[in-house]
Amino acid sequence: MEPRSRNIVRSAGRVTAERRHEVLGHRPQTVWFTGLSGSGKSTLAYAVEEALLARGAAAYVLDGDNVRFGLNRDLGFSPEDRTENIRRIGEVCGLFHDAGLIVLTAFISPYRADRQQVRELHPEGGFLEVFVDAPLEVCERRDVKGLYAKARSGEIPEFSGISAPYEPPVEPELHVDTEQLDLDASVDRVLHGLERRHVFGR
Ligand code: ADX
Repeated sequence: MEPRSRNIVRSAGRVTAERRHEVLGHRPQTVWFTGLSGSGKSTLAYAVEEALLARGAAAYVLDGDNVRFGLNRDLGFSPEDRTENIRRIGEVCGLFHDAGLIVLTAFISPYRADRQQVRELHPEGGFLEVFVDAPLEVCERRDVKGLYAKARSGEIPEFSGISAPYEPPVEPELHVDTEQLDLDASVDRVLHGLERRHVFGR
């Protein structure tokens, strides 16, 4: 969509991506965790964040519930609002990427097309999609937040996996089956994925 404002002009700073790389000691990357509620996205994202900080990398988690308290507090869970939710987060990821950072996101992001849009906001190789995969029955059994019970009773409408769609990635860079892999093994998978992308090192 074209911006509503007219008479706006882009400006660019003098700091290059290479200079940021030199200062930070790593390349930027957006690690996009997608999966059902309760699949383990946030848990994994926070564990990877901790592991990255331990290696001296500048990493930060954007989490669905948290962002909906602030930046996206005006949005609900209709298809349009979910798309707008992911669009805004995508823009934030693009800014983080420009800033040279590693951003880890934990949003259901149920629509393939929305995730593809975010990918396209990044340069080639800058976006790594991780399918955090656990069967619906498992997520529902975990029911960490008690939301599945409410969704089943009809108290929460349009709940992903129950009464709203979830479109799994077709070719994610990484597939983490959280029913089979424990947290440490899942974190290692993601760190290896980043290593293969040459995110670390000068
Ligand atoms: S998304 O679909 O727009 O990507 P997002 O990740 O931001 O969703 O928010 C999902 C979180 O909101 C869930 O983890 C859950 O805690 C809460 N939630 C509340 N209502 C719903 C709903 N109808 N569908 C899915 N998640 C919901």
